[in-house]
Amino acid sequence: MSESVTYGGYLKLEQLLAAQQPQTEQHDELLFVILHQTMELWMKQAIHEIGAAQREVRAGDLSPAYKHLARVSRIQAVMTQAWDILATMTPADYLSFRALLGSSSGFQSAQFRVLEYKLGMKDAAFLRYHEDGSGDRAALDAALGEPSLYDDAIEQLAKAGFDIPESAYRRGGVAYQPNDQVEAAWLAVYRDTAKYWGLYQLAEKLIDLDDALLTWRYKHVLTVERIIGMKRGTGGTEGVGYLQRTLARRAFPELWSVRTKL
Ligand code: HEM
Repeated sequence: MSESVTYGGYLKLEQLLAAQQPQTEQHDELLFVILHQTMELWMKQAIHEIGAAQREVRAGDLSPAYKHLARVSRIQAVMTQAWDILATMTPADYLSFRALLGSSSGFQSAQFRVLEYKLGMKDAAFLRYHEDGSGDRAALDAALGEPSLYDDAIEQLAKAGFDIPESAYRRGGVAYQPNDQVEAAWLAVYRDTAKYWGLYQLAEKLIDLDDALLTWRYKHVLTVERIIGMKRGTGGTEGVGYLQRTLARRAFPELWSVRTKL
């Protein structure tokens, strides 16, 4: 059997390379398609790694989780670098095909929301962009309802003996609210890293992810301003103004606030 395995067959290259179908003759449209598709592929891999890390954190098996989370950070770095390729597309290049995009936008990326939900940034308002009964909607509903990576990490704090109410890490699809007891627990971890080495390592891996996501967001908004200025987005938001507000989002708020307290 194995002799019949081919490179293109195994990788399904015929399907993969047939999936870039620019709608115009404009040279830059292919780049626009490929950038979105490659980012979606990297998001798929990041979701896969976060899922593995969550199972390990839940089981209290932190060391293998570090490896998965470190890989997510590297994927995020590649995704951020990709904006530099997009920045070679000038406003004129983009305007030559922008009209065909209609109201479609990265704003509707289901995987991006799954990623946010899995990290802990749960906002049910985004569900309405995904049709009831669709596969995307099912994936979003699942990610919204399940414990997030941050919930799993907080549960480990509780298991280590910190006084944290169960409601802090069992919230279903409700958005996370910063919690003083969670912050106090992280403070103790950072004050005695030798005693809490495992949790300290986990905290630093988590903040790597938040940092990298914000860096990705920042390069996105900068590239967007460079290409469309202050025009409205195809997805219907005001554009750059909306994206700038997303820079305030934090998946692990106490891991940021604790730094002031140290
Ligand atoms: C010329 C290139 C691009 C422009 C002008 C652009 C513009 C925008 C704008 C204006 C928004 C806000 C929503 C809206 O009103 O549409 C947005 C959101 C978004 N875009 Fe892009 N974008 C570009 C490329 C990309 C690429 C390559 C990706 C990769 C998947 C992407 C992913 C996203 C995501 C995930 C959001 C939602 C962000 C959030 O809500 O936090 N964008 N984009």
